[in-house]
Amino acid sequence: MRLVFLGPPGAGKGTQAQKLCADVGWAHVSTGDLLREAVAAETELGLKAKAYMTGGGLVPDDLVVSLVAERLKKDDCAGGFVLDGFPRTVVQAEMLEKTLEDMGIALDVVLYFATDRDVVMERLTGRRVCKTCNINYHVKNIPPKVEGICDRCGQALIQRDDDKPETIDHRLVVYEGETAPLIRFYRERGLLKETSGNLNVEEGQAAIRTALGL
Ligand code: AP5
Repeated sequence: MRLVFLGPPGAGKGTQAQKLCADVGWAHVSTGDLLREAVAAETELGLKAKAYMTGGGLVPDDLVVSLVAERLKKDDCAGGFVLDGFPRTVVQAEMLEKTLEDMGIALDVVLYFATDRDVVMERLTGRRVCKTCNINYHVKNIPPKVEGICDRCGQALIQRDDDKPETIDHRLVVYEGETAPLIRFYRERGLLKETSGNLNVEEGQAAIRTALGL
């Protein structure tokens, strides 16, 4: 299947996409991860994107769309993919439609994660990530076996620059203004399905599979 996971920051899109894709063999395409990799590698795109990301704003549409278009050409996307954190504006959604049309494919479902604000705040302030593996943990909900250390590679976990409370507030404002209109955009195209972002990881995964008919 070709899916988009849509929802506010902290809805669990990345956590659930990682799990689903590992199980069913689809590619997990996270624009947040792709951009953070570009920033770390100090590529031209990464240098342009860094200030937008640290401030919790959106990276310009043309930069993100070209990044995704290149990623979708890779072999691992041929069997299906989950777009996580993309599209995030109506312009990006229109550019995605065109990109997929040029590739002779289309989206099957856009899954919207309806999530309460207090859930989002609690998850983002407690998130810790492994920079090497891109695995997300949570200090309370999904702790690593050894505090502060990645279960998989043993590296120290870090807090994302944009997970500070004042930046989270700004990301939520940007989400409401720029990204939430996509709910209507995809509902009008008959592609939208809804799941709850408030459930724990296992219940959330089961609800996603039910919504997708898996
Ligand atoms: P991005 O990395 O996409 O961040 P985001 O959309 O803000 O999403 P998050 O990663 O914060 O949330 P998530 O829903 O994936 O939740 P997660 O699973 O991690 O983007 C970062 C920045 O890059 C943007 O601000 C922007 O600057 C730029 N960018 C990216 N895409 C762009 C685009 N298309 N256009 C322009 N700019 C773009 O979970 C959160 C926490 O909760 C974790 O700690 C996790 O362990 C925990 N958790 C998850 N699920 C559960 C659960 N069910 N129960 C309990 N805890 C849970």
